[in-house]
Amino acid sequence: MAEEEAKKRRFAVLTGGGDCPGLNAVIRAVVKTFLQNGCEVYGVPNGFNGLVNGTLQKMDHGSVSGILPRGGTVLGTTNRDNPFKFAVETEGQIVYKDMRQQVVDNLNKYDIEALVVIGGDGSLNIGAKLARECGVKVVGCPKTIDNDLPCTERTFGFDTAMSMATEALDRLHTTAESHHRVMALEVMGRYAGWIALHSGIAGGADIILLPEIPYKLDSVLAKIKERQANGKNFSIIVVAEGAKPVGGEMSVARLVKGSFEPIRLGGIGEKLVRKIEERTGIESRCTVLGYLQRGGTPSAFDRVLATRYGVAAAEACLRGEYNVMVSLYHDEIVTVYIQRAASEARRVPVDSEIIRTGRQIGICFGD
Ligand code: F6P
Repeated sequence: MAEEEAKKRRFAVLTGGGDCPGLNAVIRAVVKTFLQNGCEVYGVPNGFNGLVNGTLQKMDHGSVSGILPRGGTVLGTTNRDNPFKFAVETEGQIVYKDMRQQVVDNLNKYDIEALVVIGGDGSLNIGAKLARECGVKVVGCPKTIDNDLPCTERTFGFDTAMSMATEALDRLHTTAESHHRVMALEVMGRYAGWIALHSGIAGGADIILLPEIPYKLDSVLAKIKERQANGKNFSIIVVAEGAKPVGGEMSVARLVKGSFEPIRLGGIGEKLVRKIEERTGIESRCTVLGYLQRGGTPSAFDRVLATRYGVAAAEACLRGEYNVMVSLYHDEIVTVYIQRAASEARRVPVDSEIIRTGRQIGICFGD
C-alpha cells in the first residue's frame, strides 16, 4: 500500500517534424515542471519513431541543463515516422504498417499517463489520431517557424526565423544598392506567407510575394521601374517559397517519400529573378535562406514563449486536461481542443491590417 502511494505519475515528451528554434526551451520547461511537481518524465527519441520502437529515456535535471539557448532538439526528430503508416523493411522491401498497438503497448510498458507532443500540423495530427482512435492522452504544443497553425496567435520558432530573414534583408540591401541590382530573398513558410510578410516589412522590402496573393510579373516589373524613375537603382524582393504567379503553380523542389507531407517547395525565387533580368536588363540575383531560418539559437521572444508553452503543457497534464493543445490567445496561454488545432493551415488573410500596412507604405504585393 505504502509502495502504491509512493508511485509517481509518469509522463513522456517527444518532438516531431522539422526542427525549430525553441524546441529545447520547451523540453526544458516540460521536464522541470514535471520534476518540480513530484512526477517522472521520459524523453522519446526521434519523434514517433522512439514511440514505435519503445526507446524511451528517463530524464532528470541534468538532461535539460544548459539547453535553453541551444537550437535543434536534444530528443532528435523526424518528419517521416508516422505510427499509422510506419515504414518497415521486409525481405529488402519497404512496406508500410500500422503500428498503433505497439505505441500503446510501449506507453503502457513504461506506465506513461500522458504524452506531450511538441510539433507542427503533421505531428499534432498524429497526436490527435492517437488520442481519438487509441485512447492515448495527449497534450500538444505548437511548433513551427511557419506560424501556420490554427487556434494559436503564434507558434514558437517563428520569431527567430523572421529575425534571421530580416537580418538577411539588411545585408542584401547594401550589396543590392552597391551593384544596382534586384535582389530576391526566398524564405520558407510552406503554404503560408507569414515569414515573408513579417520579415519583408521589418527588412524594408519593396516587393513581397506571398502564397496567398498570386502575383503578376508585370506588377513586379512596374514597381521596379517606378523605383528606377525615382532614382532608386536597386530593389529588394522577399518571395515566399509557396508564392506563385497568377494562373501558375507553386514551385516544387522535391518529393520526400514517407514524410507526413511529401511536397517540399522551393525554386520560385530563381525563376522570378531570371524573368526580371530578361524583361528589364537589370542584373538580378536570388538568395535562398533555407535552413538558416531553422537552425541555431532561439530569439529571446521564442525562449519565453517556448517556456510558457512547456510549463502550460505540463500543467495541463498535471490537472488531467488531455487532448488539448496549448495556445497563445490575447497574450495568455490557454488550451484548445487538439483536433481543431490540427486542422487546416492558418494562412495570411489577404484583407488583414498588416497587409494594408504594407500597402500604405508602398510595398508591392504583386497583385
Ligand atoms: O515547416 C517548416 C519547414 O521548414 C518549411 O518552412 C519548409 O518548407 C519545410 O519545413 C522543409 O522541410 P524539410 O526539413 O523536410 O526539408
